[in-house]
Amino acid sequence: MGETITLLSKREIEKMRRAGRLAAQLLDHLAPMVRSGVSTLYLNDEAERWTQSHNATSAPLGYHGFPKSICTSINEVICHGIPNAKQILKDGDIINIDVTLILDGYHGDTSRTFFVGTPSSKARQLVEITEECLKRGIAAVVPGGRIGDIGAAIQECAEPCGFSVVRDFVGHGVSHIFHTPPQIPHFGQRGKGKRIRPGMVFTIEPMINEGTWEAVVLDDGWTAITKDGKLSAQFEHTLAVTEAGAEVLTLPD
Ligand code: MF3
Ligand code: CO
Ligand code: CO
Repeated sequence: MGETITLLSKREIEKMRRAGRLAAQLLDHLAPMVRSGVSTLYLNDEAERWTQSHNATSAPLGYHGFPKSICTSINEVICHGIPNAKQILKDGDIINIDVTLILDGYHGDTSRTFFVGTPSSKARQLVEITEECLKRGIAAVVPGGRIGDIGAAIQECAEPCGFSVVRDFVGHGVSHIFHTPPQIPHFGQRGKGKRIRPGMVFTIEPMINEGTWEAVVLDDGWTAITKDGKLSAQFEHTLAVTEAGAEVLTLPD
């Protein structure tokens, strides 16, 4: 008796397409603002303003008590970093910006990791491999395949480089509900897990660490950091399963 995975209709997927496109366009809008000297609160406020001006709402704001509109996760922060006026970007940082907006009742959820100024070669490699992990995960989405195929593909991309895959946070079904079954682990075994079917809509959002995969959540109840203080990167797309494979919904055009 697993939880039920809802399959979306063509009409619902069209709404997800619109929300996903707008979320990607929001990241495009924020990208040039990611510069040394800028606070994460500035990025948050700009995201909130832009979202409202496009007749959408920010899903994180107030979600299970989350206090801001976007997540900003710098360096050793794995995910769910809270924007703050006192947190100023500096040269060499990496920052994941994770946006989720609701348009016409449906969610678009996407994130990218950006460089502030010039990254170290290790940071550059981690971020490039993490983006490649997302691509390999998406390529593993085939109707008739299994959810475990996705995580296996991601692990096989990250681990040969000496990087590790975060266990404690996973991708998720997404629709008019922000987080809904199925869970999409970014680790696993080919041929295991639920079957992938047309009409499923879910995120893949691998968090890849330079060192250990273990995470610690700070006293704010949200910010997840690496246990060893080493770097973590993440990329996320929302996608729909079609008869042909995966359609990425969070592309800007
Ligand atoms: N956008 C995140 C995800 O990819 C969730 C953020 S929930 C929040 O699932 F409450 F932290 F905003
Ligand atoms: Co997500
Ligand atoms: Co997200």
